[in-house]
Amino acid sequence: MTSLPLAGEQSRSVSQATRLRGEPRLPGDKSISHRALILSALADGECLITGAGDGRDVQATAAIVAALGVTVERVRDDGLNVDYRVVSPGADGLHEPQDVLDCRNSGTSLRLCSGMLAGLPFFTVLDGDVSLRSRPVARIIEPLRLMGAALYARRSDTLPPLVVIGRPRLQAIDFTTRVPSAQVKSAILLAGLRAEGSTTVREAVATRDHTERMLRSRGIEVRREPATSPGGGPVAWTLEGGARIAAQDERVPADPSAAAFWLVAGAIHPDAQLTLRAVGVNPTRRAAIDLLARMGAQVGETAVGGASGEAGEPLADLTVRSSELRGIDIGPDEVASAIDEIPILCLAATQALGKTTIRGAGELRNKESDRIAGIAAGLRALGAQIDVDGDDITIEGPSRLVGSPTQTLDDHRLAMTFAVAGLIASGSTSIGRADSAAVSYPSFFTELERLQA
Ligand code: S3P
Repeated sequence: MTSLPLAGEQSRSVSQATRLRGEPRLPGDKSISHRALILSALADGECLITGAGDGRDVQATAAIVAALGVTVERVRDDGLNVDYRVVSPGADGLHEPQDVLDCRNSGTSLRLCSGMLAGLPFFTVLDGDVSLRSRPVARIIEPLRLMGAALYARRSDTLPPLVVIGRPRLQAIDFTTRVPSAQVKSAILLAGLRAEGSTTVREAVATRDHTERMLRSRGIEVRREPATSPGGGPVAWTLEGGARIAAQDERVPADPSAAAFWLVAGAIHPDAQLTLRAVGVNPTRRAAIDLLARMGAQVGETAVGGASGEAGEPLADLTVRSSELRGIDIGPDEVASAIDEIPILCLAATQALGKTTIRGAGELRNKESDRIAGIAAGLRALGAQIDVDGDDITIEGPSRLVGSPTQTLDDHRLAMTFAVAGLIASGSTSIGRADSAAVSYPSFFTELERLQA
């Protein structure tokens, strides 16, 4: 690995918009794109992945699986999404990488690839940029060690770089996650594929279930208990080790976390009407849509593509128009389901009548930046009333936002939140290191300009 650059370097200015109209193009779901690459790497044969998000995070996972001996070919890219042709010899044909594996800014690459590598007989080192080196890894070291892999990390096994010494045969475990985390759950399930017996992961709150759906669609039996319930509530996932993953083509749906920026932009702007096509509306990912509706946002939803949709996922066309919002109370379970959308929901709350409380948001401190500190500082700079008390955030609205400089802490979701704020703030809002948006949404600023045309 050569350098450890910060994710973004450019600044951008966004001016107040007179109207917003159109259909922003969305990146392929980031979570599903990572998983499609990893599952294709573990399957023996060829898979075509269509419409993967071409953000830097997914590119990091593509480079990691390529370093293990998988052919990863970019067969089409349009500056936002990419089609990959992946040809793998299967899990037993992969080889030890010659270099450090660079996860760049991507916590998902770090955690999910650790789960895959735990079941492969290699010595690997996973590293990344300055932000990634502050992301917690004890949460994956503990279960993967119990399964028989050896893992070591800096600062008494808490921070990357992370060393994984895997074994081709692991022990199955029955593990309850300490924090609601789809990354931890997925790492354990991926390792469980290479374990003897049945591996169970229990979570107090159901987190995104893409890994489970995608494993099922590739022929792996993944049991859920209770068998059916909407998102939220305790759930246990079980799979049997030793089964082979089928090579299979994947179509990646549009990313609901990216869509959330436009849903909020449309709801808070006084003259807006936006449409978002074929967005993933998986029950474990759609909390932001439902929270916005609870705030009074005029969001329309039309199911598309049949009941199961792409990659085993339900899809919908979404519309949003200018809305009168009101403050709501968001509890810890809802925070877990809307973890990536909390920054943009905080912006929505600044335009809602009354008080919005977001309780138990501590996990936001462990993201690409300390998102609680970052969102509070940025929204305050724009004139919002936002208070932080421990892990709870309170926002009093509505506030008239005034264009000002904002700092993104090199965090893509903060950069995009402050850019959307700039559409309604008077004057001009400058966004430091705005280029970090390309971590998940390469054409974000192009879409932002197009909607104002
Ligand atoms: C992700 C899970 C979430 C989320 C991240 C993507 C995933 O992280 O914040 O952007 O793809 O599994 P945690 O599982 O750590 O909450």
